[in-house]
Amino acid sequence: MSRKFFVGGNWKMNGDKKSLGELIETLNGGKVDANVVCGAPSIYLDFTRSKLDAKFGVAAQNCYKVPKGAFTGEISPAMIKDCGVNWVILGHSERRHVFGESDELIGQKTAHALENGLGVIACIGEKLDEREGGITEKVVFAQTKVIADNVKDWSKVVLAYEPVWAIGTGKTASPQQAQEVHEKLRAWLKTNVSEAVANSVRIIYGGSVTGATCKELASQKDVDGFLVGGASLKPEFIEIINAKA
Ligand code: PGA
Repeated sequence: MSRKFFVGGNWKMNGDKKSLGELIETLNGGKVDANVVCGAPSIYLDFTRSKLDAKFGVAAQNCYKVPKGAFTGEISPAMIKDCGVNWVILGHSERRHVFGESDELIGQKTAHALENGLGVIACIGEKLDEREGGITEKVVFAQTKVIADNVKDWSKVVLAYEPVWAIGTGKTASPQQAQEVHEKLRAWLKTNVSEAVANSVRIIYGGSVTGATCKELASQKDVDGFLVGGASLKPEFIEIINAKA
């Protein structure tokens, strides 16, 4: 089964109307042969959706687990959809490790976002000490299980494997390291969800992906795209989008 290449850009807490407007103009002019989604800061979701060409999706970088209420500072899937935005990134390592989000909360957010019609880029990944301690599989399987327990429709989910030690560090996982974990995740999905889901779900890699590293990573059998931070703010992002083209 062929899985359409999927590339997410994660702008994190970067940019302003001027710089993002310029980036959007560059992206709009680019050739795109993949599913591409740009993760904008929540205050710029509306701005981004209104400027970015329809060939691109837009994603929020987080959302809360209920539709509305007294949750100061949070945004809901309903609000995201109201801005014409159809995706959300959940469980990013910065949400887990800087803001202390638990597996349980990420699971609840995943269920609520899916129930409200958003696509979810669900992020998982081990820390350096976990990799060095030989528990990478244990960690990513446990994170994936909590997500899987909250998913009914896998066609709306993209799984992002992002080793924490590779994010923002310039230390990209080698193509072999990425492929090894992606293959194991697919096998886990086959055993614990279904063969159809294992074959169809996109497993994308994130962590210091650049124009220079994207092609070899994209050539790996189980790497179905990328989640890109730093390089998604540069014209180089178009090269990464077309890594497989
Ligand atoms: P990076 O970020 O590409 O800057 O390493 C990736 C991510 O956090 O999704």
